[in-house]
Amino acid sequence: MDNKKRRGLNFDSRAVYTPPDPATKSISPPIIMSSSFQYDAEIFQRIVDGARKEVNIYGRCGNPSEYQFEEQMMMIEGGDACLATASGMAAISITLLGLLKSGDHIVCDWTTYSSTHEMLDHRLTDYNIETTFVDTANPEAVKAAIRPNTKVIYFETIANPSMKVAAIPPLVEMAHERGIVVICDNTFASPYVMRPLEWGVDIVVESATKFIGGHSDVIGGSICMKSDILPADFLEQIRWNTMVKLGAPLAPFNAWMLSRGIQTLSVRLERACKTAAKMARHFEGHNKVGRVWYPGLESHPQHEIAKAQMPKFGAMLTFDVGDGDRALKVLDNLELSCFSASLGGVRSTTQIPALMAFLDIPKEERLEMGISDGMIRLSVGLEDADDLIADFDAALALL
Ligand SMILES: Cc1ncc(COP(=O)(O)O)c(C=O)c1O
Repeated sequence: MDNKKRRGLNFDSRAVYTPPDPATKSISPPIIMSSSFQYDAEIFQRIVDGARKEVNIYGRCGNPSEYQFEEQMMMIEGGDACLATASGMAAISITLLGLLKSGDHIVCDWTTYSSTHEMLDHRLTDYNIETTFVDTANPEAVKAAIRPNTKVIYFETIANPSMKVAAIPPLVEMAHERGIVVICDNTFASPYVMRPLEWGVDIVVESATKFIGGHSDVIGGSICMKSDILPADFLEQIRWNTMVKLGAPLAPFNAWMLSRGIQTLSVRLERACKTAAKMARHFEGHNKVGRVWYPGLESHPQHEIAKAQMPKFGAMLTFDVGDGDRALKVLDNLELSCFSASLGGVRSTTQIPALMAFLDIPKEERLEMGISDGMIRLSVGLEDADDLIADFDAALALL
């Protein structure tokens, strides 16, 4: 099937389809583990002439298994190009370091993944790249934060852990009028739930470690692009100028694992989203639970545009049980859900954002980001919904 036809398929088919391997016709793509590749005079000349992706140069520069994953990610994000990376954080840092230089400025949402926030707030500042943190759901606040040297507006489609869904088109309009690049981290949604490139975002990064891989057994990331304001070969430029230099390629076996994960993304997420909606409604009426944050709830503050962008509500939810000790007691007494740092796997996983991912961020700053001590964040997996609810009810009853 040619790529034009492949792009025209519905999402589920795009996620499942991979072309047969040309050499063996295997349906499952081979894993090319080699770090080095044999040249001949012609190949060597092409490398000297600047060929990058068309010939295999060296494992750190790219690898056929990685390209297979990039092709699949490009298809499911609806992008024109993709660059695979060693992790989600590698995707974020390579994108920003590839795009920005000393003196540039970023406008970023208050609530992003903790390592992203820390990188912008503490690391990039060492290189004279400043960030202003605002609520990107408020276009006026974004507008007020834009400076003549602003190069990037950055946010997460579903923010961690507030589950706030960004209204993308007004941000894109404001940014593109000024030549500013819009980048969003789509990890919490996954391309099954939301595809930001279709809403005008220039670059979407994913921690493929999460829903893309889906089994809590692989680390990886992706950068996908569809942009009228960036050069068409922007990702190839940063592949060579930034990713290769920082040394953060996706390992071949990890690429293969992630390629496999993409093929079951729809069925996993369809089930997990349904269970998450049922659990959110259950927690909303629970006498031991305070506020519940889930995009599918009527009570969830949501822009009309955000609703249109995301007809499916995702498999992530957050709820409050009062304070950190109470939250810890609940998580420590769960038997079916797993108390763990990550998300997006077949097992439901829980964490306390204030005591885990956001621990290094001072409490005052954390509260300003909307992260209270008693928040429990839940990544809903594939267990039976009633069993999960019973597991939480038993732990909540101990409070
Ligand atoms: C929203 C979000 N973005 C990025 C990352 C970083 O991903 P990775 O751990 O693959 O580097 C995470 C990790 O938890 C995340 O939650």
